[in-house]
Amino acid sequence: MLFMILQSRKLSHCQKPILEVEWVYVCISNTNEKVYHMYMIIVDRVVCAEVGFPLQKAFQKQGYTAFLLQLTGGESLKTRKSKEKVEDFLFEMGANRSTTLIGIGGGTLLDLVGFVAATYCRGIGWIAVPTTLLAMTDAAIGGKTGINLHGVKNYLGSIHPPLNVIVDVEMLKTLPQSELRYGLVETIKHGLICDAALFSFVETYLEDILSYNFSFLRKMIVNSAIIKLKIVAQDEKEKGIRQILNFGHTVGHAIEMMYRLPHGRAVAIGLMIESYLSWKMSTLAHVELKRISALCQKIFSCKEIFLDPEQIWIAMQRDKKGGAKVVLLQKIGKIKHFANQFVIPVSKRLFFESFEWAKSQQPLSILA
Ligand SMILES: NC(=O)c1ccc[n+]([C@@H]2O[C@H](COP(=O)([O-])OP(=O)(O)OC[C@H]3O[C@@H](n4cnc5c(N)ncnc54)[C@H](O)[C@@H]3O)[C@@H](O)[C@H]2O)c1
Ligand SMILES: [Zn+2]
Repeated sequence: MLFMILQSRKLSHCQKPILEVEWVYVCISNTNEKVYHMYMIIVDRVVCAEVGFPLQKAFQKQGYTAFLLQLTGGESLKTRKSKEKVEDFLFEMGANRSTTLIGIGGGTLLDLVGFVAATYCRGIGWIAVPTTLLAMTDAAIGGKTGINLHGVKNYLGSIHPPLNVIVDVEMLKTLPQSELRYGLVETIKHGLICDAALFSFVETYLEDILSYNFSFLRKMIVNSAIIKLKIVAQDEKEKGIRQILNFGHTVGHAIEMMYRLPHGRAVAIGLMIESYLSWKMSTLAHVELKRISALCQKIFSCKEIFLDPEQIWIAMQRDKKGGAKVVLLQKIGKIKHFANQFVIPVSKRLFFESFEWAKSQQPLSILA
């Protein structure tokens, strides 16, 4: 996979632009010399006017066949029904093995489109154009694709990396503030597990980031995406080190599933709880726990923690990784290894204690 960042509307690693529109280039990577003749654009309807239609027109102008399907982004998109809808569209429009899918949208749309690409005609190529911060820094990278099954997160899926990931930071200008904050949570996670400097960068420039300062956002997205790329490159199938990307997610996914909170919002609570567990069960210093808590609390208050810990605990047992196992921090920027393991079971008692602690933290929210 070639990861490309648009800087000042120019691709830094672009090899051969085959198409240029006002906002983006679509190009072929080193590893994918073949230029496909038919494109199917699956786009989140909120960005369709600005991104989807111009791209379709640009393809058509250059003599390529390009069909477009608009979908409504959001977690409710990640269903078997949506997958069927996209598959039917592809089939009706005559898509075959040499068709390329282009997904334009947030993590939900990209997870769905990537999964369709993984199984249609036993697998076709796809290009990811993430339009949320969460998707730019996380969901579009690493090749995990999938949908939910009876509400359980990502139960059906596949690892099917896109041919290219194309990022234009300026697409974030229409993203609501709340979504920007959800996306930031994944970057904080990347900092916590691998890069203390990235964590400090977010701490220091939080106001600039939350004010949509593109130069700070660009720098942060590149660094965050690189961390994920490096981890995935070592362990694409999540047999080992890739598990550390789940920090904050054992609790986060359980909350997301039980209470239908947005992914980033639920993971923010997960990060706090699993950081507390890292203090109790690993070597995370209390002063660092306070830093993590302060940063999370500036992004979201924990007032939603009227959630029932018993329900969350039950949901944690249903995690597809099997039981309530967590990744722990050794310190900010470094995770704890347990022999060859990256995850460790947590007791119900400690989970409840960490939950009560998170609930007791005072909101420090900045920028309404
Ligand atoms: N595959 C992976 O490795 C991976 C990693 C992390 C998260 N995820 C998944 O990603 C999903 C969350 O992704 P998300 O936070 O992007 O959510 P999302 O796709 O629901 O997007 C959030 C909202 O923003 C809207 N939107 C998208 N782009 C916009 C723009 N430029 N301007 C205005 N509005 C815009 C969408 O319509 C939606 O309402 C979850 O399902 C999660 O499981 C996957
Ligand atoms: Zn996540």
